Amino acid sequence: MNLKGRSFLKLLDYTPEEIRYLLDLSKDFKNKKKNNIEHTYLKGKNIVLLFEKTSTRTRCAFEVAGHDLGMGVTYLDPGSSQMGKKESIADTAKVLGRMYDGIEYRGFAQDNVEILSQNAGVPVWNGLTTEFHPTQMLADLMTMEESFGYLKGLNVVFCGDGRNNVANSLMVACAKMGLNFTLASPKELRPDPDLIEICENLASSNNTHINFTDDIMIATQDADVIYTDVWVSMGEPDAVWEERIKLLNKYQVNSKVMTNAKENAIFLHCLPSFHNLETTIGKDIYEKFGLKEMEVTDEVFSSNKSKVFDEAENRMHTIKAVMYATLGEKHE
Ligand code: CP
Repeated sequence: MNLKGRSFLKLLDYTPEEIRYLLDLSKDFKNKKKNNIEHTYLKGKNIVLLFEKTSTRTRCAFEVAGHDLGMGVTYLDPGSSQMGKKESIADTAKVLGRMYDGIEYRGFAQDNVEILSQNAGVPVWNGLTTEFHPTQMLADLMTMEESFGYLKGLNVVFCGDGRNNVANSLMVACAKMGLNFTLASPKELRPDPDLIEICENLASSNNTHINFTDDIMIATQDADVIYTDVWVSMGEPDAVWEERIKLLNKYQVNSKVMTNAKENAIFLHCLPSFHNLETTIGKDIYEKFGLKEMEVTDEVFSSNKSKVFDEAENRMHTIKAVMYATLGEKHE
């Protein structure tokens, strides 16, 4: 498997075999990290992380993974660089590609990360766009495989806004890797029809299915994995909260929903999550709308079915695998 020089912009660009290779590599890196086995295979290389939106997991995963691989890491946000305001994405890509061996981008349109990749001359990694969140998916697949020992045939249910980057990417990940995908959402919040068609074709070649329902209890009755995300995504205006709460209130993952699923079902969330009142936005929503918990109850979030912190840790191992594979050096 040779992925050297490739960008990682969306899972649709990768074959199931390539994704399998990245998952196996992630497992190998996790084992090395746990056993304190040095793996500074990319010593002498440098990467830059471009963040137009805030991040905890993705930024830290790229930084630690970069350091573990022996690389120099630069972090840039719009407040401390010319990006977006005084310099186009294409020009930024051409400059950074002369200095760095790889570029991570978190921002808005998928087109931006595609333009970066077309102009940089070095691998570009998508750390989240409006449309897709592919590095999150590798961590999610890894966490599912750690929990069940296999991926093919698992029933994965996403509850919530089916148009967001995580729901889109999860549908693609399932369709590619042979998992069944069900979306529990109001009809207004279903993914783009063109993406659905692509995923349905992929799923049918794997003999798996993609289902859509507005009934969360029907969706979850045979679920192995129940996944949700915040009801309002980064970049959306605060004004949408009221409407979104009305639409998504009945898609909250609570103990009734988890009990409805298979006995050994797990709960996943890309994080951050509004499961209590310990955040500024959580408190604000409580004051305005009276909700103490949103997309998931604190009971489910804190239960032993919840694998959200394994999932968060796996961001680092999988991102390390992506960087290693695309910057590419041989190792034992
Ligand atoms: N899941 C995720 O992307 O987390 P951050 O926004 O903290 O990077």
